[in-house]
Amino acid sequence: MTKKLRKAVLPVAGLGTRFLPATKATAKEMLPVVDKPLIQYAIEEALAAGIDEFCMVTGRGKAALVEHFDIAYELEATLRERNKTEALDLLEGTRVEPGSILTVRQQVPHGLGHAIWCARAFIGDDPFAILLPDDLVLAETPCLAQLAEAYYETGGNIVAVTEVPREHTNRYGILKTGRDDGRLVEVKGLVEKPAPDKAPSNLSIIGRYILMPDVIKYLALMERGAGNEVQLTDGMARLIGEQPFHGLRYQGTRFDCGDKVGFLEAQIAFALKRPDMAQAVHAFLKKYV
Ligand code: UTP
Repeated sequence: MTKKLRKAVLPVAGLGTRFLPATKATAKEMLPVVDKPLIQYAIEEALAAGIDEFCMVTGRGKAALVEHFDIAYELEATLRERNKTEALDLLEGTRVEPGSILTVRQQVPHGLGHAIWCARAFIGDDPFAILLPDDLVLAETPCLAQLAEAYYETGGNIVAVTEVPREHTNRYGILKTGRDDGRLVEVKGLVEKPAPDKAPSNLSIIGRYILMPDVIKYLALMERGAGNEVQLTDGMARLIGEQPFHGLRYQGTRFDCGDKVGFLEAQIAFALKRPDMAQAVHAFLKKYV
């Protein structure tokens, strides 16, 4: 029987080296796209997929991520006193159910697989989603909601996938594919960051997953993979053959906001979707192209 999906893990303990110096004293996940930090997009996307329990895997210098979802008494009192109701409304997405966000600490960033293992007590025996907040997806139906719908169809493990240029396979987790109906693809194997000539396909995993709790026992082995890190991909690969495992070609456009160019593109794409600024952005863009 397919268990209801209620939990999400948000790993946010990475060093964000590709975004230095911005990420020296600020968490990468607090960088805003237009006017909202990446972490808020991730929480809102998870809520839209029916998730109501969250675990952030944090590290040093990440306190603002927790603060962002707390009540800012002084700020709210001042706004109320000054009758700034519109500004108060902008805080709406930062209000969450009390106790719905837990945090655990990853003392040393040993890799994404290690970060997920740090959330093992939160995960328990339940299926769980993972959202990497620096992967932002612009979509009519939020990406995780698409993934959750597919999870209730297939059961087992499911990851969001997209085609990448063959020369970029060494940046991503890549699928060895089985049966493929154009939307859902059976996962026969997974390789982290393969060289283009060794990659089994050009179908890459993006930062949205729904996994069974059994992955934890494989992550607990602490086997080092690509980059000498404990790779989530390697832990997931051990589940293939034991449990259903699928890739979903989601509808939408994904932006790698951990990368400077990807982040800039996301600003433009999201701004052009905003009725309050699309026209102005469109007008100034003409000056630069
Ligand atoms: P990235 O590969 O983007 O690593 O991690 P990073 O450290 O954040 O950024 P760069 O590559 O140095 O610029 C993907 C996700 O996994 C988390 C990150 O916070 C990000 O959400 N992560 C990664 C951890 O939580 N712990 C780790 O040890 C590694």
